[in-house]
Amino acid sequence: MVENSVTADADVAAVFAEDERKSLLRFITCGSVDDGKSTLIGRLLYESKTIFEDHWRSLERDSARVGTRQGQIDFALLVDGLAAEREQGITIDVAYRFFSTRRRKFIVADTPGHEQYTRNMVTGASGAELAVVLIDARKGVLVQTRRHSFLVSLLGIRHVVLAVNKMDLVDFDEQRFNAIVEEYRVFASRIGLGEVAAIPLVAVDGDNIIESGTRMPWYRGPTLLEHLEHVDVESRISHGPLRLPVQWVNRPNAEFRGFAGSIAAGVARVGDAVRILPSGRTSRIARIVTADGDLPEAVAGRAVTLTLADEVDVSRGDVIAAAEAAPESAAQFQATIIWMHEEPLLPARSYLLKIGGVTANATVMPIRHRINVNTLDKLAAETLELNDIGVCELQLDRPVVFEPYVDSRTLGGFILIDRMTFNTVGAGLMSFALRRASNLHWQALDVTQSLRAELKGQKPAVLWLTGLSGAGKSTIANLVEKRLAAEGRHTYLLDGDNVRHGLNKDLGFTEQDRVENIRRVGEVARLMTDAGLIVLVSFISPFRAERSAARSLFAEGEFLEVFIDTSLAEAERRDVKGLYGKARRGELKNFTGIDSPYEPPENPELRIDTQQLSPAEAADLIVEELRRRGLLSAP
Ligand code: ADX
Repeated sequence: MVENSVTADADVAAVFAEDERKSLLRFITCGSVDDGKSTLIGRLLYESKTIFEDHWRSLERDSARVGTRQGQIDFALLVDGLAAEREQGITIDVAYRFFSTRRRKFIVADTPGHEQYTRNMVTGASGAELAVVLIDARKGVLVQTRRHSFLVSLLGIRHVVLAVNKMDLVDFDEQRFNAIVEEYRVFASRIGLGEVAAIPLVAVDGDNIIESGTRMPWYRGPTLLEHLEHVDVESRISHGPLRLPVQWVNRPNAEFRGFAGSIAAGVARVGDAVRILPSGRTSRIARIVTADGDLPEAVAGRAVTLTLADEVDVSRGDVIAAAEAAPESAAQFQATIIWMHEEPLLPARSYLLKIGGVTANATVMPIRHRINVNTLDKLAAETLELNDIGVCELQLDRPVVFEPYVDSRTLGGFILIDRMTFNTVGAGLMSFALRRASNLHWQALDVTQSLRAELKGQKPAVLWLTGLSGAGKSTIANLVEKRLAAEGRHTYLLDGDNVRHGLNKDLGFTEQDRVENIRRVGEVARLMTDAGLIVLVSFISPFRAERSAARSLFAEGEFLEVFIDTSLAEAERRDVKGLYGKARRGELKNFTGIDSPYEPPENPELRIDTQQLSPAEAADLIVEELRRRGLLSAP
């Protein structure tokens, strides 16, 4: 029964005490707007509204104690969503609602069903133990139902309530209900959803929500609320080995050094042997410090500060784990990625990957397949579009501590962030580490870059010329190289058209091919500067992300971005190769500036306005800039 009696003041303490004993069930509702989702949630909340005040107060207390919002209400305390997502401070369109009955406390994540629903569902579902999948009895199991259920399963929810709503509109027909349930159960078992409890409802009138009503006597199971109150979702996490991702290192003075975080799994006991990852060093738990004093042990879900018996190095993002059962760390994975952005995932583009408290650079390469969530077929894919789900290989720039998502949501779930906009563009679930290249080491060579450069009597550098097709990049680069050669400098000019005849002849002009084109030329330029050369790169290189990724390959001061700035109108007027004409006539697809974007540099080292300067003047300016930066003096 939902509690709706007003509690006398004298009983408040008793209510708090009782309240803290109650278990908490976090669930998510999925379905489209017309399925009656809001009505259903509204009804559950309405019936419990009078108790809300009390919970508000207990939430206030918790927020003051362990919250992160300076005493303000911290709803994140209630909802263990994607931690990284929260840290990013990204607003997600998910409403968390709180209600309570005599038996249980509930948090329901209400995720709107518009086009961004995948993102919202991922956020809502990542902290939930149960999903209520709503179905309109007239429509039955829809593509949307399957998609939601697939995500629910993927995100590790094992308990599903199939709420077949609007039974009044199918004359309370038991056969209709059974047919829907049968069809759903077949799909559910294919995607690994264990338990499905099916309940026929009329959310508007309340049948089988809290009370059974009299209109469906053939249904003898529990009402929705009874089911939610009694379903056994005893979490498994407290049983596994200890996992504590370190959120921060607490070091108020020289005497105390504690490692704070929430226990993600298992139990921490004073004296237990632990292993710190990724370093692999071991120690023992000396103290378990909390706001309520020291504890002999603490279980999963609890926020604690551990001190260790030895002086071992532990930093934010490290994981303190049971010594005998520690997780692995790796830099290459197979993972499932849920793409959540309008701009598609581009293999070879470098994204930021956040897992636990750690951020690494990641490229997705290759995409193994995309999943058709309706048929569960595996489809070939070159990119992932908004709401696509794909199985991919990921390459990180350094090892991170992880566990398969099925074993740990905390150490198995990650997000992908765009490096330029800092938007969260994807969510991912770790499957397993790939061992392929893990035995590759950087071979130390005795002849170094500086020795090679010294022999040539110069400092290596990259002049990265970017701009529209026909802007004048190659003409200017050619003049610069001639001038440098005349001074006896050792150079090489990498030109887009030329490199595309050989090394990159397998690439066209789609976004993903251009990303790969620039990735390769960046790597080649790096090898050439390693050889001690002054390298000129003359590629449209239309995307900021790839130019920035190329820049990150070089030492500070070695990479000069030169924006050959010619307006589209001017480049089109010149149309040296006749390509603009073709593109305008529709004979050439994905042409930069016409139907493929060009993102001008925001802070280039040099901007050349070709409407003001002749190619010769531009070349002079560039050589002068090299000299001004000391790149043409002896090494
Ligand atoms: S990039 O965008 O991937 O950096 P890149 O510099 O290698 O392009 O190649 C650009 C050259 O390819 C242009 O100068 C032009 O001669 C030729 N080209 C052919 N098709 C296209 C197209 N669709 N868009 C841009 N350039 C094209």
